[in-house]
Amino acid sequence: MLSRTAIRQLRAQAPKLRVQSVRAASAWSQVPQGPPAILGITEAFKADSHPEKINLGVGAYRDDKGKPYVLPSVDEAEQQVIKKKLDKEYAGITGVPAFTKAAALLAYGPDSAAIKEDRIAITQSISGTGALRIGGAFLERHYPGAKTIYIPTPSWANHNAVFKDSGLKVEKYRYYNKDTIGLDFDGMVEDIKNMPKGSIVLLHACAHNPTGIDPTEEQWRKISDVVKEGGHFPFFDMAYQGFASGDTDKDAFALRHFIKEGHLPALCQSFAKNMGLYGERVGAFSIVCEDAAEKKRVDSQIKILVRPLYSNPPVHGARIASTILNDPALNKQWLGEVKGMADRIITMRALLKENLEKLGSKHDWSHITSQIGMFAYTGLKPEQMDQLAKECSVYATKDGRISVAGITSGNVKRLAESIYKVTG
Ligand SMILES: Cc1ncc(COP(=O)(O)O)c(C=O)c1O
Repeated sequence: MLSRTAIRQLRAQAPKLRVQSVRAASAWSQVPQGPPAILGITEAFKADSHPEKINLGVGAYRDDKGKPYVLPSVDEAEQQVIKKKLDKEYAGITGVPAFTKAAALLAYGPDSAAIKEDRIAITQSISGTGALRIGGAFLERHYPGAKTIYIPTPSWANHNAVFKDSGLKVEKYRYYNKDTIGLDFDGMVEDIKNMPKGSIVLLHACAHNPTGIDPTEEQWRKISDVVKEGGHFPFFDMAYQGFASGDTDKDAFALRHFIKEGHLPALCQSFAKNMGLYGERVGAFSIVCEDAAEKKRVDSQIKILVRPLYSNPPVHGARIASTILNDPALNKQWLGEVKGMADRIITMRALLKENLEKLGSKHDWSHITSQIGMFAYTGLKPEQMDQLAKECSVYATKDGRISVAGITSGNVKRLAESIYKVTG
């Protein structure tokens, strides 16, 4: 113990010590500056004072007034959840069971043998991105073959980063043909055939982001065959079920066909787009197993993986989604609203094409209407996209991708005039 005199002496020195103290060297002085995020578009859009500026960069649905849209079924379900005055206790590691059960049913279908035989391991996830991250980590830890995942060229910009951060090696397969602004089906099939046996293949189940180009049902059948011949592992990302065609069963065709053909795929689901639950982060990751015993083992390993990542997922959004999926009347209403969103997008595609043709554009714009989902790959070059922003105050990504959800009956004419101006 210090004597009183020693304490007095230390106190007397204290102001001096404080003066002498300097801030410790930062541990982060060597952290390099990262490149600007995609949000750069939104910033440029905000800074533009043009009264009729158009933002086609965001990957979120907008109504015909250009405003974010809360689905009436979501609103109703949320009111029901609030009225129940449920507690805020933790969910289990794999989330809200009523939600995951219904999510599996939505994806795999009511006739799914895999569901009936109880051989689907499923966990709630932090939306689609979280599902991809759990899937990447699961494959990195347990996949018996080479830990390389093949993604299409191009693919959603985050796929590469998510899988790399999961510890997988990322390779590409051909997908987009810039000459036809369509699917490079032969290139895709050839690349899948040339992958080392047992490769992991990422497939966009529907509404391919960023191209909006999906294989036809006939082409999916062939893809299933070549994936099977190669002994590859199909990993489906289904971020837009219902959003592509307006019909959740139709959009699940590829996944369900693969399962009928005997594949045992993994699946990532997101309820961001089809329920407009973007910020609630509602999703699911599942793996179709050989039998119920295997499912139990896989399930136990998913839990071991999720626990140190985030312990357990948030409950509010999952309760909303679960209410919609499990209440027949609300479910019917929701399906109608999903169709409403898909139809508005389909209408905007047709209007954009029509307006371009009316202006006398000599280009073939049929890809605008043959593509599907939230995005259209216009085929415009980076210089033309720059010109669109600078001269017309129309903002979208440099790869020529536009979010069709950002088109409205009020801005489609001006958009067509702008595109016509830069493409001639
Ligand atoms: C192809 C694809 N996968 C996954 C996601 C993940 O979205 P979220 O994490 O918001 O569900 C997106 C979002 O844009 C996407 O386009």
